[in-house]
Amino acid sequence: MNSQPSEKRQAVRFAFYKLDGAWRRLPADRQAASKLEFGEVIESFHGRLLLRPYGLVGIRGDCDFLLWQVAENLDALVALQTALNRTDLGAYLGLPYSYLAMTRRSIYEFPEDPNAPSRLVIRPSDARYLFVYPFVKTRAWYGLPKPERQRMMDEHVRIGRKYPSIRLNTTYSYGLDDQEFIVAFEGDEPAEFLDLVMELRESEASSYTLRDTPTFTCVQMSLWDMLDTLGGAGSVQAVARRPARADGFTPVATLPELPPGTGKRVYAAGEAVALFNVNGSIYAISNRCTHARGSLSEGTVDPARCAVTCPWHEGVFALETGQVLAGPPSLPVPTYQVKLEAETVLIGPAGAHEPTVAPRS
Ligand code: FES
Repeated sequence: MNSQPSEKRQAVRFAFYKLDGAWRRLPADRQAASKLEFGEVIESFHGRLLLRPYGLVGIRGDCDFLLWQVAENLDALVALQTALNRTDLGAYLGLPYSYLAMTRRSIYEFPEDPNAPSRLVIRPSDARYLFVYPFVKTRAWYGLPKPERQRMMDEHVRIGRKYPSIRLNTTYSYGLDDQEFIVAFEGDEPAEFLDLVMELRESEASSYTLRDTPTFTCVQMSLWDMLDTLGGAGSVQAVARRPARADGFTPVATLPELPPGTGKRVYAAGEAVALFNVNGSIYAISNRCTHARGSLSEGTVDPARCAVTCPWHEGVFALETGQVLAGPPSLPVPTYQVKLEAETVLIGPAGAHEPTVAPRS
């Protein structure tokens, strides 16, 4: 096996949490406050790691939600879990499953697939479901000659390509964690995934699987929707209860939280809003891409065009007007008025507006 020390890899963690039922007996105000705190801690890591929440309430009994975390190094994963442990909600959360892995190029050769994403960079799609399991092969597999393994992998890939709507993310855990791989499939149809897995069971390579359980079927949802699957007071209502003022403006962030060139998701009147700092000018647009609900605050800002590119299918929106500049979206996103008071960023009603310029420090 070649070592490829020069390739840049990402650290990936699948952390499955279970809520202690005692939390549901707390007063509603404390439940709302603890959801808000937990959500804001997660949001504060925006830019340091990519994080996708998924719900498992109603699907599995031993865990309630997944935080799929992708970072440049292990330190960011440690920092996130440490911060979550310090929250009020964190005191009521168990961690029944946690899997660590890294991106890596495959040692097998696969015919070119122009739509295949780079295996070194994880880019979650907008698929509704994520199917995750740890995976271990038998030692006999590693004793087979490489061409024989390649032949079996080719069959495996051929079957996979019969289900083009299912997207595979394989990450590697050798030496880092108990399993050898973490396999994460994305798809919109659980029935299609079931058929794929049934068909794969008949492949030759399948007889070399030692373990591929437990299996998690996870539902992608916004952070606040995921928190609401836990029960208790609604987090969206809690977010909406942030103090709004008589002039219609709501304080949502401070300038140090929004350095030039960055975006941040905030909430005002129960709506998710994406804030951007472009060379000191602050813009606010709806966070939800009009194409397939991508989170625009996680998009890439282009200061030259004063635009943001959606992280999911590269739709481009003008930050001043919300108009579509490129890509699949056909509808613009609403824009919001922005006001600065000292270092506080406030959001007002939706509508066209001039950018608000941050004072130079
Ligand atoms: S969700 Fe498809 S371009 Fe944004």
